Amino acid sequence: MSMRFDDFYQRSIHDRDGFWAEQAQLIEWRQPPQQVCDYSHPPFAKWFAGGVTNLCHNAVDRHLAARAEQKALIAISTETDTEKVYSYRELHAEVNRMAAVLKALGVEKGDRVQIYMPMIAEAAFAMLACARLGAIHSVVFGGFASGALASRIDDAQPKVIVSADAGSRGGRVVAYKPLLDEALKLSSHQPAAVLIVDRGLAPAPMRAGRDHDWASLRTLHLDAQVACEWVDATHPSYTLYTSGTTGRPKGVQRDTGGYTVALAASMKHIFDAEAGQTFFSTSDIGWVVGHSYIIYAPLIAGMATVLYEGLPVRPDAGTWWGIVEKYRVTHMFSAPTAIRVLKKHDAEHLHRHDLSSLKGLWLAGEPLDEPTAAWISDAIKKPIIDNYWQTETGWPILTLCNGVETQATRFGSPGKAVYGYNVKLIDDATGEELTGANQKGVLAIEGPLPPGCMQTVWRDDERFVNTYWKSIPGRLIYSTFDWGIRDEDGYYFILGRTDDVINVAGHRLGTREIEESIAAHAQIAEVAVVGMADSLKGQVALAFAVVRDAALAEDAAASRALEAEVMKLVDSRLGAVARPSRVVFVTALPKTRSGKLLRRALQAVAEGRDPGDLSTMEDPAALAQVQQRL
Ligand code: PRX
Repeated sequence: MSMRFDDFYQRSIHDRDGFWAEQAQLIEWRQPPQQVCDYSHPPFAKWFAGGVTNLCHNAVDRHLAARAEQKALIAISTETDTEKVYSYRELHAEVNRMAAVLKALGVEKGDRVQIYMPMIAEAAFAMLACARLGAIHSVVFGGFASGALASRIDDAQPKVIVSADAGSRGGRVVAYKPLLDEALKLSSHQPAAVLIVDRGLAPAPMRAGRDHDWASLRTLHLDAQVACEWVDATHPSYTLYTSGTTGRPKGVQRDTGGYTVALAASMKHIFDAEAGQTFFSTSDIGWVVGHSYIIYAPLIAGMATVLYEGLPVRPDAGTWWGIVEKYRVTHMFSAPTAIRVLKKHDAEHLHRHDLSSLKGLWLAGEPLDEPTAAWISDAIKKPIIDNYWQTETGWPILTLCNGVETQATRFGSPGKAVYGYNVKLIDDATGEELTGANQKGVLAIEGPLPPGCMQTVWRDDERFVNTYWKSIPGRLIYSTFDWGIRDEDGYYFILGRTDDVINVAGHRLGTREIEESIAAHAQIAEVAVVGMADSLKGQVALAFAVVRDAALAEDAAASRALEAEVMKLVDSRLGAVARPSRVVFVTALPKTRSGKLLRRALQAVAEGRDPGDLSTMEDPAALAQVQQRL
């Protein structure tokens, strides 16, 4: 039995302040915290109140004394065939230059800076420069298109937007600047300045007075030294938008002190990582994994971090493993989808490389199915560690804390509750806690959430409380909106979302946001989007649309043309990541007598399952039609 971990966990819950006061010593403070956790206004937790620090200082400057010449950032692009390694000294210089440029463009403490960029080193400089200035960055995933970008611009109201001429995917150039310009036509908020990193991949028409070229401004600030802005532990470090039940994305707001401590502690206790080692996370800076485990945590820990632009199978399925071999990667972090993609290729691509440096492969973002786990475990002969968390929490909720004690993995389970998280399973109807083994309930977390988790929804405290803390009757408890069970040994199993969020290739998407973009088509009267199980991507979006002209739904050629139009519309508004795999045209959607859409029934039918109890259904013919058109 795992005595050491259990004690460690129990202490984190029952001697919360003592536990986190110790963890707080893993980072550098300008002024030490006066209070560990102020939970006088639940569910708002103020971690390390009175403490003064800076995230960029802890990620970069702090390491200059001991490891200035050590590798810090390894930027590799198999799209442009470039590779550049920055030592901590060089990273420090670049971040100072970027900070000086942002400052010259008017950025001050508390201002928002939106970052819409491909996976290039300058994106990391921009994030770290914001942290340096006490400005709040808000990264928008580069795979999102102008509509999604515009709604995020309007919510964040950035003073400056940092972007690039283009990204590249699978050898195909994706121009970003025109998408950004289009977004700025759609948004009512306008930034004072736009900073463009020109990679020479696509034309980037610049608007005089507003748009600035990074390379030219950089040369003006080559020797800049911009002091870190010392901020309160509770000062927001960033916002990151994520999907929920409504079409309007939520700005998950993170603090500074709590986040820095949480990430430092996670590197020690979860990843068992040390300064000088190399971390390779294959995520994107547009997602939470990229924020925490490409940029901040590895650097806070004094490690080298790999920033990779490209696909896992280009030029061949050995590309990631060649990076592991070349840079002696110790920790690798990815998503099950990527492994399922690799699994379609010959395992010889992995065997070709010396993976002896690797301590483990951590996978997160979606359920890890057994065949995928077994295949990769066999291919690389290293521990495969599932971990479960959310944009909202910023670091793992469930996993195995091998830095505390090596624990046995259990197939299908991301592991046990991580220290700091008071995880409960709740009966969604009664609000009662389920204490027995193998009972299905909503995975919830008793407040306060540990350090590093979301502080609130950007500019919307009410939405934070109502969305996350009031979904379970009669209790103020944080809901993950995931179903789960726990076995007799404390291992949890995740059984899917309780809300309308879907997970496509590890990308979290809101079905409502997709529906809203489809509904903008003149021919569409009504639409429902559901997630459908997919063997490669986990889930794909499937749209059922009611056409205004019923004859259209009957005409195969016209339906196909309309489907292509709808897909193009989603591509241009939200981005190809959100494109439904199919649009099925119908004349009515299945609803209850009170007019509620029967999404679950739609999803069941799409997946070939029994739609369940249909006694409340208004018009059974609608479901029959769906079934027949599928
Ligand atoms: O439904 C859960 C699923 O992804 C959601 C969070 O997605 P996101 O905010 O993008 O954060 C990802 C951070 C890794 C969760 O609510 N999810 C995440 N990890 C797992 C998972 N489902 C099953 N197993 C996991 N390991």
